[in-house]
Amino acid sequence: MIGEIAKGAERDPAADPGGYAKAILNILGDFSEEKARLQDTQKAILNILGDAGAEKLRLEATEKAVLNILADFSDEKARLADVQKGDLNILEDFAAEKARLESTQKAVLNILEDFDTEKNKVEQINREMAREIAERKRAEEALEAANKELEAFSYSVSHDLRAPLRAIDGFGQALLEDYAGRLDAEGRNYLERVRAGAQRMGTLIDDLLKLSRVTRAELNLEEVNLSVLAQEIAEGLRWREPQRQVEFDISPGLRARADARLLRIALENLLGNAWKFTGRRAEARIEFGATVRDGRPAYFVRDNGAGFDMAYAGKLFGAFQRLHGTTEFPGTGIGLATVQRVIHKHGGLVWAEGAVDQGATFYFTL
Ligand SMILES: Nc1ncnc2c1ncn2[C@@H]1O[C@H](COP(=O)(O)OP(=O)(O)O)[C@@H](O)[C@H]1O
Ligand SMILES: [Mg+2]
Repeated sequence: MIGEIAKGAERDPAADPGGYAKAILNILGDFSEEKARLQDTQKAILNILGDAGAEKLRLEATEKAVLNILADFSDEKARLADVQKGDLNILEDFAAEKARLESTQKAVLNILEDFDTEKNKVEQINREMAREIAERKRAEEALEAANKELEAFSYSVSHDLRAPLRAIDGFGQALLEDYAGRLDAEGRNYLERVRAGAQRMGTLIDDLLKLSRVTRAELNLEEVNLSVLAQEIAEGLRWREPQRQVEFDISPGLRARADARLLRIALENLLGNAWKFTGRRAEARIEFGATVRDGRPAYFVRDNGAGFDMAYAGKLFGAFQRLHGTTEFPGTGIGLATVQRVIHKHGGLVWAEGAVDQGATFYFTL
């Protein structure tokens, strides 16, 4: 092209050839400047385009990040919704729980109120009971004092009665012996009855004194072999009436913590009664053993004698109470009262079972 331009300049040599070249050079200079500008522009555009690509990438990344964030956010939202639902459930449950708690609280308050009134009642009862106990204690003390006085009185009276009784019996005997010739049969009979009366009164007094001694006695507890005691008493009964046929069945090894002296008195009365009330049996049998009543050992004396009517079982232990006539079975009616005092002194119980003509059983606990 430069060659063509040069050719054209050659055809018009009249024109300034130096100006032409200059113009060409100028054009070329402008052209190269233009080119450099274009290149700059191109570079700038490329830069811009590069920047735009980077920007695009950045934008894409940002978009992705935003999308991620949005995705995360929606997850989060779902989670939050779940949590909220959960919270709502919890709140609902909580409300139900609160209602339940309130009703429980009300119930507890009611119970406490009831408890309070009940407590007041119990306190009132306690106060009344304490008063009653105090009153009873006073009454018991008064009774004990009165009993002691009565015992002392009956003891001295009984004791003092023995001397005049001995006089009546003794002088009756002297009268019978020394003046027998001057008395007819009827007179002697009367005198014998006076003596018998005096003697019976003597035994009554002796028995009353025994009863009184039991009441006054101090309890001396020790290990007592009841079987051995019963055996000794049985031998004593046999020795006094050797002609009688009585079979004794005594369980061995029955021991108890008791007052040996008092228990001997009780067993003498029980075994003595069994001996007496089997007096009309050809084959008398007396048993001493133990059984269990209300978890405690209950000792018993059983016989196959006259027995008694159970309707009067409660009366037997009262002083002077007898269910049999003195002519048939002599006695004072104080024996069982004595037995009861001995047993009660030990804190035990005594009771009887029997039937007319079927024998009797006397039980006691200690
Ligand atoms: N083993 C027994 N069998 C039948 N009755 C009895 C027996 N033991 C006692 N009794 C009755 O109980 C009464 C009172 O007994 P107790 O006080 O020992 O007096 P006593 O032996 O002097 O008659 C007796 O009179 C009798 O009626
Ligand atoms: Mg008796």
